Amino acid sequence: MRIAMVGTGYVGLVSGACFSEFGTDVVCIDKDADKIARLERGEIPIFEPGLDILVANNRAAGRLSFTTDLAGAVAEADAVFIAVGTPTGRTGGEADLTYVYEAAREVAGFLKGYTVVVNKSTVPVGTGREVQRIIAEVNPDAEFEVASNPEFLREGAAINDFMRPDRVIIGAESERSQEVMQALYRPLYLIETPILFTTLETAELTKYAGNAFLATKITFINEIADLCEKVGANVHDVARGIGLDGRIGRKFLHAGPGYGGSCFPKDTVALVHTAQKVGSPMRIVETVADINDRRKKAMAGRVIEACGGSVEGKTIAVLGLTFKPNTDDMRDAPSLEIVPALQAAGATVRAFDPEGMAQAEPLLSNVAWAQNAYEAMTGADAVVIVTEWNEFRALDLERVKAALKAPVMIDLRNIYNPQEMIDAGFDYSSVGRPVR
Ligand code: UDX
Repeated sequence: MRIAMVGTGYVGLVSGACFSEFGTDVVCIDKDADKIARLERGEIPIFEPGLDILVANNRAAGRLSFTTDLAGAVAEADAVFIAVGTPTGRTGGEADLTYVYEAAREVAGFLKGYTVVVNKSTVPVGTGREVQRIIAEVNPDAEFEVASNPEFLREGAAINDFMRPDRVIIGAESERSQEVMQALYRPLYLIETPILFTTLETAELTKYAGNAFLATKITFINEIADLCEKVGANVHDVARGIGLDGRIGRKFLHAGPGYGGSCFPKDTVALVHTAQKVGSPMRIVETVADINDRRKKAMAGRVIEACGGSVEGKTIAVLGLTFKPNTDDMRDAPSLEIVPALQAAGATVRAFDPEGMAQAEPLLSNVAWAQNAYEAMTGADAVVIVTEWNEFRALDLERVKAALKAPVMIDLRNIYNPQEMIDAGFDYSSVGRPVR
């Protein structure tokens, strides 16, 4: 089996490397010659734990290669994966499918022999059919079928998510295309992973429904957290209490500053858009997206409140900028709302992130960049934990107190125990865990 992976971004690179680990020959293609040159030198353009070793091993084994030559790779492939970007369109809401359709058009010209063209990018319902139509139009002689194989990879845990997924969803409508996909995912049959074959539309919608449901779960617990603060309950215990009900489940009930990242914000809005377009509005998801936007904006208010009602002329240390730990990804990160709002309220922000500062720099202005957490806190009036990196969970609290001008900590990720922090002499606040 041979795969051509069109688009060597986050999803394309991780999927390509993992398929090669499964034993398939994979050629990863990108238009960005510089990126391909870097990959050929063994440099990994994204931060994803374990990816460097996986790429190196499979290149050494001769199963994984990188090229800008679409034609050759596509002609030899049994399956061509389209894993190009689908940014939110300029008008907002609708996903921009320019790159997907462009890739389909280019691929069409080079198809040789029976080939399955697989959509890996997250695309609105109906895109698979459109890709099918485009390829047939560009190359009426092509012998091909289109499949949809959405990814459910979490950044920071993507390799494990690919190798040991909860399930695999494949929209493939003929026996022949299903057989090709089965062969590619053969190792997962050995570990009895549920692999669901559906129609194209069902596979496409499953991806959006899954992400919208998870975004709803997070938003639900965030609102419960706000309520906890008003009535004196503890959201951590409420989450555990409801999560032990198997029907609800324990995961994704961690209250915080609102979800960010490359998927949830974009996919919820795209789903709302699709639903509106076909006259079947998704009011829950609409509300979730709206609440989450407002929540991220409201987080600076918590910091201001913890600082006695004003941050004018004060220095605030911000720990963590990426939308979550173990990634350098800044897309839709809560920090992008919190930092400017603090600055607008008159604060000087000093920030540190273990991996995200290079990405954050062009997105945030007038920030004093620190080399480590303690440097960020030195002389600051308060510290805000925005991203729960492990190194922030294990801060030396005495050193923190000595560094800060006042021992004010706003823990937006609930990584410390409120009572312990108060006993340690901190003016500590977190999300949904008031202390009597
Ligand atoms: C997500 C999905 O999990 C994955 O299946 C997918 O298809 C792509 O989108 P990812 O964006 O990498 O993955 O991160 P994830 O770990 O799911 O977190 C998303 C956001 O939700 C982060 O901002 C995180 O901080 C937040 N979150 C998550 C919470 O606030 N509380 C939680 O309990 C879980």
